[in-house]
Amino acid sequence: MSYTIYDIQERSPVVAEKIEKYIKTNKIKVGKKGQISDKSYLILLDLFSSQEEIKNDKKNGKPVNVLNDLKIQINHKPIFKSQDQRISLFHDDAISFLKSLPTASVDIIITDPAYSGMNQRLKLGRGKIIGKYADAGKDGAKWFEEFHDTVENYKTFLQQCYRVLRNNRHIYIMFDSYSLLSLAPIARDVFEVKNVLCWDKANIGLGHYFRRRHEFILFASKGKRHLNSKSIPDVWKIKRVVSSEYPTQKPTEVFELMLKGSAEKDFVVCDPFVGSGSSAIAAIKSDCMFIGCDTSEKAISVSKERIKQFLKNKTDLYQKSSLLGDDEAITKLFLNGESK
Ligand SMILES: C[S@@+](CC[C@H](N)C(=O)[O-])C[C@H]1O[C@@H](n2cnc3c(N)ncnc32)[C@H](O)[C@@H]1O
Repeated sequence: MSYTIYDIQERSPVVAEKIEKYIKTNKIKVGKKGQISDKSYLILLDLFSSQEEIKNDKKNGKPVNVLNDLKIQINHKPIFKSQDQRISLFHDDAISFLKSLPTASVDIIITDPAYSGMNQRLKLGRGKIIGKYADAGKDGAKWFEEFHDTVENYKTFLQQCYRVLRNNRHIYIMFDSYSLLSLAPIARDVFEVKNVLCWDKANIGLGHYFRRRHEFILFASKGKRHLNSKSIPDVWKIKRVVSSEYPTQKPTEVFELMLKGSAEKDFVVCDPFVGSGSSAIAAIKSDCMFIGCDTSEKAISVSKERIKQFLKNKTDLYQKSSLLGDDEAITKLFLNGESK
């Protein structure tokens, strides 16, 4: 078994730069691809995995605003930061953004990536789905850039998610059915996959071989953590957003349910594919902090306006009303708050 410095970085709550500095100072041999000897691996692991997390959850009895510390360590500036410093948006690519975050700096990842695989599969000649999708922008440009979900790229994405997530925390990643089969298995190499949830959109959409009514949500953990509630079912009936301002806008309730399952007050929520900002609105509603990015200028401007307005007067510009379906168990969770 050969180890690399990335294995140490993944297992350690200490920022990657500190580990690299130690390696340099102590002249530890590192191969071109980051390989280290078994002996160095054990020494480094012993040294860095036992250190305290970068931030303790509490300082002088008050929760630490991790985003203040991120400000020092992130090597590029947010394009938007809320007045209370609890919400930050970056105009960036998901992997480059995650790489810029310190190790073990976020408490939960909830995300809905723009997979390219499904759309390539659906390009059946002038297939209706991709046709409408591709024509939506000027000069045949797509609605937004897709994440290049090659196996290699996706693995890097997951490894970065693992690195930035604190120990004993959860991650939720949305998948269409094609990407679930091709990419989700990779998550098993990185995280402890606990379940695959189903978002039931209540009404049928497009589709050649059966009309689509659902998407999947992969639920996994880094370390051990229980869910906040034992009453959340694994099928979530929540209506889709119709005539949305931003394509593929998801109902805030989908993200709120993820947070109901796994977040605490003041958790740092991370979404590296922020789109219209539905996950950010869910984070605010759940009393959490938020950090996210998107490559699209439109996504940044839409989510920025949406967040600003919501912080100002609790009005959601792009989802005017609740989209909860007729499901008693789910409705109960929203009506009663937590039901353990
Ligand atoms: C499925 S949408 C997210 C929709 C969002 N959940 C919502 O409710 O509005 C995916 C987003 O990923 C963005 N995106 C595509 N490639 C990206 C990349 N490499 N890094 C970050 N964002 C990317 C797209 O611009 C798009 O806004």
